[in-house]
Amino acid sequence: MTVQLFVPSFRIEECLSEIRECLEKGWTGLGFKTAEFETAWKNYTGLRHAHFLNSNTVGLHLAFELFKSKYGWDDESEVITTPLTFVSTNHAILYAGLKPVFADVDEYLCLDPQSVIERITNKTKALIFVGMGGNVGQYQKILEICRARDIKLVLDAAHMSGTRVNGRHVGGDADASIFSFQAVKNLPTADSGMICFKEAEDDERVRKLTWLGINKDTYARTASQGAYKWMYDVEEIGHKYHGNSIMAAIAIVQLKYLDIDNSFRRQLAVWYRQHLDGHNHVNVVPTATGCESAQHLLQIRVQNRDNLMLALNEHGVYPGVHYRDNTDYRMYAFAAGTCPNAAAASKEIISLPLHLRMSKADVDLISELVLKYAQ
Ligand SMILES: Cc1ncc(COP(=O)(O)O)c(C=O)c1O
Repeated sequence: MTVQLFVPSFRIEECLSEIRECLEKGWTGLGFKTAEFETAWKNYTGLRHAHFLNSNTVGLHLAFELFKSKYGWDDESEVITTPLTFVSTNHAILYAGLKPVFADVDEYLCLDPQSVIERITNKTKALIFVGMGGNVGQYQKILEICRARDIKLVLDAAHMSGTRVNGRHVGGDADASIFSFQAVKNLPTADSGMICFKEAEDDERVRKLTWLGINKDTYARTASQGAYKWMYDVEEIGHKYHGNSIMAAIAIVQLKYLDIDNSFRRQLAVWYRQHLDGHNHVNVVPTATGCESAQHLLQIRVQNRDNLMLALNEHGVYPGVHYRDNTDYRMYAFAAGTCPNAAAASKEIISLPLHLRMSKADVDLISELVLKYAQ
C-alpha cells in the first residue's frame, strides 16, 4: 500500500463533456468558458469581481504591480509577508520591485498580528496574508491593523477555495484575493487561478494587464462593427497571464463538487484528530475558531520530523512539508533569524496525506504509524 500526500480527483466524463464543447465550438482560449467560470465563481463565493488567470502566482504579481502603479509606491516600499509559504508569495513582491519584510507566524502558522505591528514602518504599503492550509488564523485582526493604517491587504488564498467564516466565503474584504486551481489544490484543474479585486476599477484594469495591456474597449467597439478588429489600443506593458477555456471547462465541473469535496477533507481531518489530539509528542495545528476551513492541509508538529518522515516513507506513506522557512533560501537569507516561530515550525511540520481517495482505514493506519514513530 502507498498513500501519497495529494491525489486530485476529477469528474472525468463531465470534464470531458465541457472540454468537448470548447473543441466543437473551436474556442479554447480567453472568453467563452473563462467568462462562464468567472460568473460561476462570483456566484459561489459572493465576491464582486473575479478574473480567471493561468495561475495564482501571476495573480500575486499582478496585485502588487497594479497597486504599486496605482498608488505611486517607489522601489523602497515595503510589503509585510510570511516566511512560511510557497515562494510564489514572496517572489511576487520582488517581481513588482517592492521589498519583502518578514513577520513571524502564530500557532495557526499564519501571520501573527503582534509581529506584524512590530514590522510596520513609514514605508509599509501592503501586507500579504497566506491562509495556510485553508485556515484563516488571525486574519480578522490583521485586516483591522491594515485598515487602521491604510495598508493594502492582499490575500494569498491559494489554499482557501471554499473556506468560510460565519457562513461567508473569504476574500471579500481584502483589496485583492488570489485563488489557485493548480493540479493538486482543492479545486484542481491543471494550472489556473482567480484574482478577485475589491474595487471595480482594479478588476477592469487587470483584464488589460493579463492581455498584454490591450485595450479591449477599443477592440469591442470596432469588433462589434465587424471590422477593424486590429484597431485596439495598447495602454501599458501588460503580460500574457489570462486563463483559457480548457482550464475553465475543468474548473466549472470541479466547482460544482467543491463543497462536497471540502466536507470530506474536513471529515478526514476529524478522524486524524480523534487519533492524534492529546498525545504528548504530536501537536495538530489548530483551525481558528469560527473558520470552516477548506482543509487543504492537515498539519502536525513533531520534534523528530525528518526521522518520522523516513519511517512513514518506509511504510509507503508519503507526507509533505508546507513549507520550509523561506529565509533558509539564498534569495531571502537577508532576513534569516528574524522569525523564530517560523524557523521552529519549519523544522517540525508535516502535512499528512489528505485527498478524496482516502478512507477512514487509511487515516487509522497513518495515525497509528505517526503515534508509533513520533518522539
Ligand atoms: C501558498 C501558495 N501561494 C501560491 C501558490 C502558487 O499557486 P500557483 O501554482 O497556482 O501559481 C501556491 C501553490 O502552488 C501556494 O501553496
